[in-house]
Amino acid sequence: MKKFDKNQKNVQFIKGDCFNILKSFEPNSVDCVVTSPPYFQEREKNKHFNLNQSIESYIDSIIIVSTLIQHVLKDEGSFWLNLGDSYSKGSLRLIPERIAIELTNRGWLLNNDIIWKKTSSTPTSFKKRLTNSYEHFYHFVKSKSFYYNLTTLDAKKNSKYTKSGLIKTDSNLTGVNYRKIIENSNHLTDVEKQNALLALDKCLSELESGDIKDFRFIIRGHNKVVSYQRQKEVEKNGYAIIKSRYNKPSDVWEILPEKDNPHYAPFPEELVEFPIKVSCPPNGIVLDPFSGSGTTCFVALKNKRNAIGIELREEFIKYAKDRCSKIN
Ligand SMILES: C[S@@+](CC[C@H](N)C(=O)[O-])C[C@H]1O[C@@H](n2cnc3c(N)ncnc32)[C@H](O)[C@@H]1O
Repeated sequence: MKKFDKNQKNVQFIKGDCFNILKSFEPNSVDCVVTSPPYFQEREKNKHFNLNQSIESYIDSIIIVSTLIQHVLKDEGSFWLNLGDSYSKGSLRLIPERIAIELTNRGWLLNNDIIWKKTSSTPTSFKKRLTNSYEHFYHFVKSKSFYYNLTTLDAKKNSKYTKSGLIKTDSNLTGVNYRKIIENSNHLTDVEKQNALLALDKCLSELESGDIKDFRFIIRGHNKVVSYQRQKEVEKNGYAIIKSRYNKPSDVWEILPEKDNPHYAPFPEELVEFPIKVSCPPNGIVLDPFSGSGTTCFVALKNKRNAIGIELREEFIKYAKDRCSKIN
């Protein structure tokens, strides 16, 4: 791995087998890995992935490369792993789930299991099976103190106000219903009602000023309480509030699969943009050990991060280099 010039955004493509190449990387040197390894029994000509391998040896290969990644990743780093599944003898193989369990057994923390819902999917010819339209996109971290910067995301462009001029949250909540529930509650004392209404007004003004993006009220006698801590709060005050300060997407991402790319299984750019922006600091290094057409590196460069791609096939390296050279 060559040294990156701190004053420039750089990309480096390395042709070869990532199982060997990763061993030559400095430990704790990469901020974020975003990758999608070959599918199980994909027509790959290499010793780690081939048509005749068993499911166990495929899982072993992913575990081996993940351990190499664990070594090169900084302690605050993130590992985003996209995996698809397939059927055998009438049953899903559950390959992503098996790998996720193995990785957590080996010390990785699974921060999110994101579902990439493909907004266009290949129909199935099976009469008694639904069309598969999702893949897992796992977000693993090495430690609880991982880097995660939501402030780098663009604010949503949709209006903050309803047509009648009321302030609303990202999930279209205006507080009108909460106000009615609090005022009409038989489970709150007059003092608790007064405090809850003041807290509601405070939430609405924080929403107006942009300090928060969303909130939920849990009101005694009205909502089920899910956590012990909230239950204590509701018992004491008659209500509890959950606030969100950021425009955070949910863990289901609806994204169109990429079509305009010569690779057989390219990432859509949109899929990798959030992971890169949130989990790699500006000027940090993003790595894709199975870089294919170089989507991860391309998006990293566009977002002013350094990027390293490892890929076995010359034609993909050539395409990826060409693609990245066109970024201004
Ligand atoms: C699912 S594709 C990744 C596609 C990529 N995300 C993109 O946006 O184009 C997996 C890639 O891994 C490459 N590959 C397979 N075995 C490899 C290995 N041992 N080392 C490096 N690359 C490998 C394949 O050639 C293929 O391009």
